[in-house]
Amino acid sequence: MIANTFAFFLALFSSLCAAVPSLEVQGSDFVNPKDGTRFQIVGVAYQPGGSSDYNPGNDPLSNGTTCLRDAALMQRLGVNAIRVYNLDPTINHDLCASIFNAVGIYLLLDVNSPLQGESINRAAPWESYNAVYVNRIFEVVEAFKGYPNTLLFFAGNEVINEQSDSSVPSYMRAVTRDLKNYIAKHSNRTIPVGYSAADVRPLLLDTWNYLQCSLTGDATDPSRVDVFALNSYSWCGDSSFQTSGYDVLVSDFANTSVPVFFSEYGCIQPYPRVFTEVPALYGPLVTPVLSGGIVYEYTQEVSNYGLVTLNDDGSAYLVGDFDTFQKQLNTLSITTLQDTTAQNTTVVPPTCNDSLITTTGTFSKNFTIPAVPSEVQDLLDNGISNPNNGKLVALTVLDVTQTVKSSSGVSITGLKITPLADDESNTPSGQTQPSPSATSSAPAAATTTKKSGAAGLVRNWAGLMAAVAGVMGWLVC
Ligand SMILES: *[C@@H]1O[C@H](CO)[C@@H](O)[C@H](O)[C@H]1NC(C)=O
Ligand SMILES: *[C@@H]1O[C@H](CO)[C@@H](O)[C@H](O)[C@H]1NC(C)=O
Ligand SMILES: *[C@@H]1O[C@H](CO)[C@@H](O)[C@H](O)[C@H]1NC(C)=O
Ligand SMILES: *[C@@H]1O[C@H](CO)[C@@H](O)[C@H](O)[C@H]1NC(C)=O
Ligand SMILES: *[C@@H]1O[C@H](CO)[C@@H](O)[C@H](O)[C@H]1NC(C)=O
Ligand SMILES: *[C@@H]1O[C@H](CO)[C@@H](O)[C@H](O)[C@H]1NC(C)=O
Repeated sequence: MIANTFAFFLALFSSLCAAVPSLEVQGSDFVNPKDGTRFQIVGVAYQPGGSSDYNPGNDPLSNGTTCLRDAALMQRLGVNAIRVYNLDPTINHDLCASIFNAVGIYLLLDVNSPLQGESINRAAPWESYNAVYVNRIFEVVEAFKGYPNTLLFFAGNEVINEQSDSSVPSYMRAVTRDLKNYIAKHSNRTIPVGYSAADVRPLLLDTWNYLQCSLTGDATDPSRVDVFALNSYSWCGDSSFQTSGYDVLVSDFANTSVPVFFSEYGCIQPYPRVFTEVPALYGPLVTPVLSGGIVYEYTQEVSNYGLVTLNDDGSAYLVGDFDTFQKQLNTLSITTLQDTTAQNTTVVPPTCNDSLITTTGTFSKNFTIPAVPSEVQDLLDNGISNPNNGKLVALTVLDVTQTVKSSSGVSITGLKITPLADDESNTPSGQTQPSPSATSSAPAAATTTKKSGAAGLVRNWAGLMAAVAGVMGWLVC
């Protein structure tokens, strides 16, 4: 009888193995293909220690204990995505990816690292674009393609930074082409590949046009990006749509053929931040064109952009900016964020042509993309050797054990992750942090976004199952 009950629950849980819906790019939108709704990125950059602290064998998604703590805080914060800049594709990320999946948080992953030979060198792209480098970026694809919450890969971050008429843009298209061809051949689903640009005028628009245009006249050209993002710090203090230049961005990108969003934002002058760009970014003037953004950044570093101070003993102390950012997220209309039906207008990409490159006068007009080296063709045809394929795993621990304190120094007790039901992503929870007079706070109540009344039942059912499973000691992917 007990064995039967056990088998019953095991079967139940394996069939209830919850996952976020893998998102797709359709025209200039991110779309949830399960219900056709448009998705807005509400993200935070996540690279504790910064790029300079990156060491193979240890990356932001390799330690389940720290990921659990940070995912629990991000679930309360209300974000639905993280950007991770530097990853070691040879190590195990299953626990962290599964934790972020469970709380409805997507992964935006850069394929490069600051180590020698692990990025395109803008001073000599023809040397750094080689089979050893390409093998590394394919390893990143292999490591993360199996997680449903892998949202996209960035082929490059701020590589095209000079106005000189260099060949760097053509190498960015070559890397994009190779990644997209590898994914097409070796992944079960299409995972978008994009580029993250510096918000530097006049370079920005030439970069966007160079990378989004099609050499074949349609959207299938593998060397064009699926997604274009910019690191935007133009809204400082209590600015406005006009003063920040958001009005110019919106008009410049109005007819984009690919989704455009902020791969970083969050000017810190003046400090502390007021984050009034949040209601603007997700408001009616911006959302018709942009698809949200990634606030910079989760961890407090010397540069002072952090929302949370992480200490060597594993404890985490919230910074005042965490509360301010959370309050701004709490003002957003979830309906506006996630229930918008995608336009599904297939914007035809512009055909690559000199006439697209108009703003700098010096940007490359050479649309000849470097050929695929024969060793790279071998990797494309046969796959890389010894791929380290990640997959979701069951979570057995949901409770955060480290000390976590609010910005006013109050311990936050009962902190844990609350797995969401199948097909749901995280949304702002409406929570605030405990005040100094409070002795403890309730654990995060996950909120969900489904329109129908039935979704509430699904949520409660999943919550009940999670509770039962938690008590019985096994769980929920
Ligand atoms: C969007 O349009 C394409 C092409 O017309 C179609 O195949 C696809 O099913 C549409 N998607 C949605 C969500 O309506
Ligand atoms: C996914 O792809 C692998 C090969 O990479 C294949 O063995 C597997 O059957 C595929 N799974 C699904 C669900 O398509
Ligand atoms: C993970 O991080 C915790 C806390 O920072 C640390 O104590 C632990 O040793 C780490 N685990 C591994 C496997 O590195
Ligand atoms: C986008 O708009 C610009 C200027 O309004 C125009 O030059 C360009 O051809 C348009 N591109 C597309 C793809 O419609
Ligand atoms: C580039 O565009 C110009 C006009 O905008 C056109 O005359 C020319 O044929 C185009 N070149 C190519 C290669 O399509
Ligand atoms: C254009 O770029 C390709 C690839 O980088 C290069 O082989 C070719 O020499 C370049 N053409 C010119 C005219 O610079």
